[in-house]
Amino acid sequence: MAADRGQWGSRLGFILAATGSAVGLGNIWRFPYITGENGGGVFVVVYLACVALVGLPIMMAELFIGRTAQLSPVGAVRSMSAPRSPWMGLGWLSVVAAFIILSFYSVVAGWSMHYVGLSIVGAFKDKTPDEIGAMFDALYANGGLNVLWHILFMVLTIAIVVSGIRKGIELWSRILMPALFGLLLVLLIYAMTTDGFTKGFEYIFGFHADKFDLTSSTLDALGQSFFSLSLGMGALVTYGSYLRRDEGVVSISIIVCSLDTAVALLAALILFPILFTAGLDPDQSVGLAFISLPIAFSQMPGGAVLAPLFFLLLTFAALTSAISLLEVATAYFIDERRWSRAKATLVTGGGILILGIPSALAGGPGIFGDKLKTGTESIWDGGKNWFDVLEYFSNNWMLPLGGLGIAMFVSWRVGNAAREQGFKTGTKLGAMYWGWVQLLRYVVPIGVLLVLLNAIGVFSAGE
Ligand code: TRP
Repeated sequence: MAADRGQWGSRLGFILAATGSAVGLGNIWRFPYITGENGGGVFVVVYLACVALVGLPIMMAELFIGRTAQLSPVGAVRSMSAPRSPWMGLGWLSVVAAFIILSFYSVVAGWSMHYVGLSIVGAFKDKTPDEIGAMFDALYANGGLNVLWHILFMVLTIAIVVSGIRKGIELWSRILMPALFGLLLVLLIYAMTTDGFTKGFEYIFGFHADKFDLTSSTLDALGQSFFSLSLGMGALVTYGSYLRRDEGVVSISIIVCSLDTAVALLAALILFPILFTAGLDPDQSVGLAFISLPIAFSQMPGGAVLAPLFFLLLTFAALTSAISLLEVATAYFIDERRWSRAKATLVTGGGILILGIPSALAGGPGIFGDKLKTGTESIWDGGKNWFDVLEYFSNNWMLPLGGLGIAMFVSWRVGNAAREQGFKTGTKLGAMYWGWVQLLRYVVPIGVLLVLLNAIGVFSAGE
């Protein structure tokens, strides 16, 4: 075992770190706006089904692989199949996906840090909605500023990961996660006192079938469930590899999935009532948290205090997720290349920092932004810039395919005895074993393939 491998200090520490990975921009920034775009209630139901039937069994599978092999994805798949097995492609996909996802994730995290600053200095006070909207547009288009925040966020992420599992990732998860839950609670209590609460609640849980599109909304729900639960690219294989061999993974997975889903729903329950109270439209895409919410806060009593709290929440959530993405790439070099943790973190973190620069520039007019957009309009349905393209491919395609691969690997390739024993280690829920295997073997592959085939238009060929 490489000297620089670590181990979690306690089960609680692990749960906080895994929940920290799962709870991120995906829950607080992305889930509410995707739910808004896809019409609320119906989308939420489809999303919950994706979490329970696809996400949860895959989370158990990822943690099982990591804990069994005590290695990050490439080595883990090798040690559980054969040297040079084609399944190792799954491991490589993880490392590539970690680089790609963190490169654009960090840019959005940078926006939230910028907004912590803006709201602390009271930049939204006495501004019209148009002026607040213009502030986001200005940030989005300002490549230099985006690059600066991206670098700062990556430096923070690197600083935590370089300190190792227990003294870096676990320690910071123990500090940031309770803070995150506290902030969430304060904001929720506030949202519940607003006039728009019933309307917001009704929007999230009511049926608005008109905005729900079977093809694209289902793909969005599936992609979102993978992204939100940190699945499909070995992040939880890696985190699982720092668990003791006798630690159970079944109830841990149930806890992490439940917390992640709860935070997503609570974030929506915070945002929508506040927006409705201010008379704003919920269908606001990317700008929901960065435009509509500041507008709402600028008009509400207490908004000057709540706005910085919200963006701090977003920043903390982003940071505990980013460290898990960086850890996947770092652990590969520690395990497979025998690099020291310091070298592995600095090289991968530095690489991601550079790779993220095009995403930071994507809101501007250059070749990664508008130029790319117009050039490829026909391919990326409506013109996506560099950032959009990376986000679309990684979330909607790489993660589901990675998750599909993991489900097939565990249910078809890993031997029955090892799998059964592994599932039943350290848990009282061993009776769920049969159901878990059926989900991995049939429900996950068929479900994921149907959604993906549908998305490339296989079922609408005759239209
Ligand atoms: N789950 C995080 C979020 O919701 C993002 C994230 C962290 C992630 N690690 C991941 C996504 C691994 C996919 C894979 O914001």
